[in-house]
Amino acid sequence: MVGRKVGIIGAGFVGATAAYSLAIQGTCHQIILYDINTDIAIGKALDIGQSISYSPKGTIVTAAKDASDLKDCDIVVITAGVPRKSEMTRADLLMINAKIIKDVVGNIMKYSPNAIILCVSNPLDIMNYVIHKMTGWERSRIIGMAGALDGARMAYQINQKVGYGSGQTSTMLIGDHGQYMIPLPEISAVGGVPLGQLISKEDMEGIIERTRNGGAEIVKHLGTSAYYAPGYAISTMVAAILDDSRIIMPSSVILDGEYGYRDISVGVPVVLGVRGVHKIIELELDAELKEKFKASVDSIQEGIDILTENGFFES
Ligand code: LAC
Repeated sequence: MVGRKVGIIGAGFVGATAAYSLAIQGTCHQIILYDINTDIAIGKALDIGQSISYSPKGTIVTAAKDASDLKDCDIVVITAGVPRKSEMTRADLLMINAKIIKDVVGNIMKYSPNAIILCVSNPLDIMNYVIHKMTGWERSRIIGMAGALDGARMAYQINQKVGYGSGQTSTMLIGDHGQYMIPLPEISAVGGVPLGQLISKEDMEGIIERTRNGGAEIVKHLGTSAYYAPGYAISTMVAAILDDSRIIMPSSVILDGEYGYRDISVGVPVVLGVRGVHKIIELELDAELKEKFKASVDSIQEGIDILTENGFFES
């Protein structure tokens, strides 16, 4: 337990909720919150620190006053980045967030050179790829959090539809954390019962649609991104890594020949443990799924190409 240190970069709703979730579950010994607005980090660290009087392990929650306070973290969670504003193009947003990630990554390499990085910033798969390029670290240490959240959203939709099985539902998805996401009802189940035996094809289509739009649906109501489910999904992945639990979790990782692709970050099932990604599971995909996976990879590649065309990787 001692020495299990998690840095969280970006103390907005998602970062702070991840910290809260980790703290109340007693997942780690210490959490350090970093934000370009230091007061936000200090205020939230105080509030979260004061919330854990009754939590199991007395997690220490502090704010980083300077990036150098993010020293020797076992895991660094990156939630930094700006949301898209109406006047911004996709290219604008990509360049802005990629630059933010670049600064952040420089600090992580300096102060926590042995950390595992969990990327949450959007557009997720592209930002995870940027981290891979900027660090040059082994790909097992660069993980994008997407499937953990999308899978939880899919399970929620399934449970709403059938009316039972909450906490017993296992889901799987591959592809990007966006409009080409590929939920896989074929290998999802409630209490071990294959979904195909519980839900009609038509209902399944609706579930897939709502899963894919899960993030956007919440933004429509809240005017801002979701944070409770993302926060809990982050803490679940952090726990799996720190505990070396070797669970299978769909995550965005750099492929190097798996699924027929390389030099791209995209969601696939992986085994999570103390070294980060211990294994990439290669699902057998039929022709239709291969086609969908290609469209998903292409959409991520388009974003990377925009960064390349704007000289991002040269500077
Ligand atoms: C979402 C953001 C957190 O999907 O990626 O809600």
